[in-house]
Amino acid sequence: MKHRQARAAAAALTLSLAAVGAEIDTGTGLVMQPGWQDVRAHCGTCHSFGLVTHQRADRATWLAMIRWMQETQNLWELPPEVEHRILGYLAEHYPPGQSGRRAPIAPELMPR
Ligand code: HEC
Repeated sequence: MKHRQARAAAAALTLSLAAVGAEIDTGTGLVMQPGWQDVRAHCGTCHSFGLVTHQRADRATWLAMIRWMQETQNLWELPPEVEHRILGYLAEHYPPGQSGRRAPIAPELMPR
């Protein structure tokens, strides 16, 4: 009985993920689309992946956040092709729009 419920729950989960068109990695909460492994490798050391997945921004704003972390928070330099993949991934899957989180703070207003 328990088994059948679990299977039904799993099926429902699979269906709801299929409905949004992408699988979510259970470990990080990241949408599993090209580039996600770069984000997994570089963006979860200092804070939770939730901080990333709850943010929404366009490419330029994602880049500004990365530069701010590099200039003030010891985020390491990312190889250009890795940075390119990460920015493409974030801008595509976490674009501006509906978000539970406040808008990113303008880089010039961030602490130094
Ligand atoms: C070396 C440490 C470090 C790494 C690695 C790191 N961050 Fe951060 N990040 C921080 C710190 C510190 C903050 C501010 C923490 C806070 O507000 O709790 C922050 C804040 C953020 C925020 C919130 C910005 C805002 O406006 O509030 C986002 C989004 C974010 N990081 C995304 C990323 C992404 C994407 C990556 C991978 C490219 C990454 N972080 C990797 C240190 C890091």
